[in-house]
Amino acid sequence: MSTQSTVKVVTTHVLSEMKLRGEKISMLTAYDYSMARIVDAAGIDVILVGDSASNVMAGNETTLPITLDQMIYHGASVVRGVKRALVVVDMPFGSYQGNSKEALSSAIRIMKETAADAVKLEGGIEIVESIKRILSAGIPVMGHLGLTPQSIHKFGTYTVRAKEEAEAQKLIEDARLLEEAGCFALVLEKIPAVLAEKVSRELTIPTIGIGAGGSTDGQVLVIHDMLGINKEFSPRFLRRYADLYTIMTEAVGHYIDDVKNRDFPNEKEQY
Ligand code: KIV
Repeated sequence: MSTQSTVKVVTTHVLSEMKLRGEKISMLTAYDYSMARIVDAAGIDVILVGDSASNVMAGNETTLPITLDQMIYHGASVVRGVKRALVVVDMPFGSYQGNSKEALSSAIRIMKETAADAVKLEGGIEIVESIKRILSAGIPVMGHLGLTPQSIHKFGTYTVRAKEEAEAQKLIEDARLLEEAGCFALVLEKIPAVLAEKVSRELTIPTIGIGAGGSTDGQVLVIHDMLGINKEFSPRFLRRYADLYTIMTEAVGHYIDDVKNRDFPNEKEQY
């Protein structure tokens, strides 16, 4: 059984209260109705409809190909399965970088067509105007700094970010900027734990880490990774809580044997 708070519905306000009283925030990704129902019923605080759907649902190498329409499809499916968690939908690559007007209309589509609670955008100063414009329409925004997978072609690799002083300093300034702009929370991905701790201490909004150590105000993992559906992806920061790849492969193998051996269906399993 999980140690979850008694909160009936998680809002952005609830998350800031959690930070104030030192209660850690749990966040996982989900991309479809059935998975969202399970994760929500288990008591997760935040469900992220991540653009990692591009990787784990569609089999793309990067998050770049997923479209706004596809994110809306995933977002709406997740929202239909959720009663308690706060649902955040990632704004996909190309839906907000052009200009703040385009960013706002993409965010409005996500909110109208999915009924999610908030959107997430990757980046700092470069996109702060877009963030402000989205916020001005009353749409809560979660920021995302550090390793920002939509910029993979700029970085060249998925290794740890902000190890050098200059990049760490820029990240701190970007984090301050996102807080000042009005973001309600900030994802910190794959950065040194000491830096994540410094940012988390300085900001009043909650930080949610992935590969950023234990001092962030919350943690997030991709559900396929933590359930062991993905066998190939094993970064140091990942803890696997199940081996669903093996469980599912064995179950499917068992079913195939039963069909081949005429064991399934039996008399009770027919009309
Ligand atoms: O898309 C995603 O799953 C994410 C998390 C890794 C934070 O952005």
